[in-house]
Amino acid sequence: MIDIKINAETAILCDRDVVVIALANGDQKTISAQHIDDVSQGAVHRYQELDQTLNQFGRFQTVCGMSHVQSQRVMLVGTGDKPLTLNQLKTLAAKVARHLQDIGVANASMYLTELSVLGANLADKINAVAQGVWLGLYDFKRYQTKKNESKVSLACINLAITLDDDQKQAQSALDKAKAIASGIILARNLGNEPGNVCTPTYLGEQALALNHPNLQVDVWDKATIEKQGLRGLLAVSQGSPEEPRFIVLNYQGGSIEQDSVALVGKGLTFDSGGISIKPSAAMDEMKFDMCGSAAVLGVFKAVCAMNLPINLKGFISSTENMPGTSAYKPGDIIASYKGVTIEVLNTDAEGRIILADALAYASEQKPSCIIDYATLTGACVIALGAQASGLMGNDQALIDQIHAASMSSGDRAWPMPMFEEYQEQIDSQIADIKNTGGREAGTITAACFLSRFVDEDTPWAHLDIAGTAWDMKGSDVCVSGATGAGVALTVSFLEAYAA
Ligand code: BES
Ligand code: MN
Ligand code: ZN
Repeated sequence: MIDIKINAETAILCDRDVVVIALANGDQKTISAQHIDDVSQGAVHRYQELDQTLNQFGRFQTVCGMSHVQSQRVMLVGTGDKPLTLNQLKTLAAKVARHLQDIGVANASMYLTELSVLGANLADKINAVAQGVWLGLYDFKRYQTKKNESKVSLACINLAITLDDDQKQAQSALDKAKAIASGIILARNLGNEPGNVCTPTYLGEQALALNHPNLQVDVWDKATIEKQGLRGLLAVSQGSPEEPRFIVLNYQGGSIEQDSVALVGKGLTFDSGGISIKPSAAMDEMKFDMCGSAAVLGVFKAVCAMNLPINLKGFISSTENMPGTSAYKPGDIIASYKGVTIEVLNTDAEGRIILADALAYASEQKPSCIIDYATLTGACVIALGAQASGLMGNDQALIDQIHAASMSSGDRAWPMPMFEEYQEQIDSQIADIKNTGGREAGTITAACFLSRFVDEDTPWAHLDIAGTAWDMKGSDVCVSGATGAGVALTVSFLEAYAA
C-alpha cells in the first residue's frame, strides 16, 4: 500500500510532481480550480473552453507549466454538473491514482476532498478518497515473472485539507481508511490466489499470521475436526486429498463481560461440484469459492488495525469439494455437528453443509448475533448480479442494521424474504432435511437450510456473496478478480455496534 499523507498546502504552492484538481463543485469551480485559474490568468477556464468534454465526470487532462503554479503538472479532473456521492468520489480517486501510476508519477497531491458530497463530512470524504486510491492501485501480479520494472512507481499521495480543517480528525479518518483497505486487500489476495496455493491449510496459516495482542487463533486439523464431530465438513472433504481445516478466531477488544459478534465464513478453496461435477466452462472461477472466509479474515484484519472496542469471534469451515474415489455421493445421508441428518441430493450444494457445522458450533458460543458470508448459490448471481449481495436472516433488526451499513459503505447487500413456506422445499422423505430445494428460490432455500443450524434465539444474518465476491470484468476500484465484498459493510456495521 502506498503512503498517503494529510497536508494543508495550497494548490499553487504545492511542489509535488502533480497537483490534482477537481474542476467543479456542481456549477461552481472548486476552491483550488478557482485559485489556479486566478493566478494563471484564466488558464483553467481556457482548457475547459477548448475541451468541452473535460467537465464530464471522470474525464481528465494533465497540463504542464501553468504560470504561478509551483508544481510542473496540474491534472484537471472533470466532475460532471451533479453533486457527487461518496462512491463516485471513491471511483474518481481510483481512476486518478491509476492514471498517475500509468504515466510514471512518483508523488502527487490531491485536492479532491474539496468536492462537496451530500450528507458527508471531511472525514467521510477522506475515507472515500483514500480507499479509492488504495483499492484502485491494487493489482495481483505476483505470478507474472516478467514485471515491467522500468516504470517509476507511485510512492506517495498527499490529501490536501485546508488550514481551517481539523487535522486530527482528518488523520483518524485516514487511519480508518487504511485499516479497512488493508482488510479488503487481504480478502482480495486470498481470493485471487489459485486453488493449488490457497488450500484449507494455507487459509489456516494466513489466519495464524494475523498478529494482534488481543487476537487468539486456533486452527483445527482433520483429527481435531473428527474429534469435535464436524461431520458435515468431513463428508464434503472426503473426495479430496487436501486436509480440511476449521479455523476459530477470538478477538477481545472489549471487556470479558461484553457479549460478542460471531462471523462465519465459507472457505471452499476449490469447488469442482464433486460427484455432481460442474461443467468445465468457468470452473476455474470456483477457486473464489472461499471468498466468504476471506471476508471474515479481512474483517479481523481491519478490526485489529482499528483496535475496535468489541469482542469478535470467527469460525471458518474450509475444504475442497472434489470427486475423489472416497467422495460423498448423491443419495448419501450424512450427519452433522448439530445431529440433524442431511440427505445429499447434489454434492455441488456443499457450501450449506460445511456452513451448517460452523453455524451450529458458533451458536453454542452464545454470541449476541451471527453473520455468515458465503458464495453460496448461482441463483443469487441471477437475482442480484454483481451489484448487491443477498441478505437474509432470522432477525429483522439485525437485517436492517446490516442493510444500512451496506448502503453507507457502498458494499451493498439487499434483503430477500424468508417466508416460512419456503422451508418445505428442503424437507426430506428419509432424513431430517435435504441439501437442495430445487431451482425455485434457490438462494432463499439455501438460507432456509442454514437457518436449521442456527439457534432460534440468536439473531443471525446470511450474506450470499456469490455475485459480488469477484468480478472478471474489473472496474475502476477493482482489477479483475476478487473484490473483498463483505469487509467494508461489516466494519461499518461493527463500528455502529461498538458505539
Ligand atoms: N459455489 C457454488 C455457488 C456459486 C456458483 C457461486 C456460481 C458463484 C457462482 C455452490 O457451491 C453451488 O454449487 N451451488 C449450487 C447449488 C445447487 C446444486 C442447489 C448452485 O448454485 O448451482
Ligand atoms: Mn458447489
Ligand atoms: Zn460452492
